Amino acid sequence: MQYVNDKDEGSLSLKRGLLSIADLAAQEILCLIEGAVGMKQGGGDARVRSSTTVGLLFEKPSLRTRVSFELAIRQLGGQAIYLSPEEVGLGKREPVGDVARVLSRYLQGIVARTFSHQTLRLLADNASVPVVNALSDAEHPCQALGDLLTIYERKGKLEGLNLAFVGDGNNVASSLLLAASLVGMNFRIASPPKYELGSGVLQTALGFAEESGSTITCVSDPAAAVDGVDIVYTDVWVSMGQEAQAKSRRVDFADYQVNAKLLSCAKKDALFMHPLPAHHGEEIAENILDHPKSVVFDQAENRLHIQKAVLAELLRDV
Ligand code: CP
Ligand code: NVA
Repeated sequence: MQYVNDKDEGSLSLKRGLLSIADLAAQEILCLIEGAVGMKQGGGDARVRSSTTVGLLFEKPSLRTRVSFELAIRQLGGQAIYLSPEEVGLGKREPVGDVARVLSRYLQGIVARTFSHQTLRLLADNASVPVVNALSDAEHPCQALGDLLTIYERKGKLEGLNLAFVGDGNNVASSLLLAASLVGMNFRIASPPKYELGSGVLQTALGFAEESGSTITCVSDPAAAVDGVDIVYTDVWVSMGQEAQAKSRRVDFADYQVNAKLLSCAKKDALFMHPLPAHHGEEIAENILDHPKSVVFDQAENRLHIQKAVLAELLRDV
């Protein structure tokens, strides 16, 4: 998300979209959370023109992201058009750059879920309207923003909290790491060997953490990561697009299940978080979504509120 200062009003205006959490400054994340809290409480008069139309271009399946983005734009007063993988054939029926240029003639924004982050970059480079990352293999920024909103609602702050991510150093972990280190939340991750966070995202986050005064700790022992934390977070062992590795991943992640015993190592008032969809009996024990610490359905709801804040900022001048 790239903002420019509106000198007359002293406010921020979103110009080019949101591909990575690293595009944001800490203050911009806090503004989006504040906006989302206001919208959730029924306040705020953020609207877009009734002719404003956003395309939802998805290469992979989705429940939460598709429904919450479609509702977000409708509730702001605009319209959404869902474009399925079959009908567009992104990069197969037509080059990605051509799709971006065509859609830019019809739409005011593109929300895209792609396999490769490179596809998303190609879309953004060729589009003349803002492109929002609805999940790629590298990041899931709207999930991380919604998650910070959920944590803020429950804890009343973000800075100084300790979050432990148990599992794959994947797209969800990467966006959460960047968001946490920007806003001053301490981030611990326990991953098996070969599944650690990428070195690039880690370097970027270390720079943010130095600025915010937060810490980043990478370990292999889940209990060590979870010990005394405020938030325990996990995600699937096999992400979309990794189905061919499912068998070996289930073996490699066998000791990384979040269950009641592991959750008992966290603080008494800790939160349990998962972006969903969850695989019960794999990364989470049966019934963990109903554990008293679980806030997973708040997370799902908050995707709507934070995305309304993102879209309102992004589309307010079109
Ligand atoms: N958490 C999330 O992005 O869910 P979907 O894949 O269902 O959109
Ligand atoms: N890491 C998961 C997240 C799904 C919301 C995936 O990419 O499939």
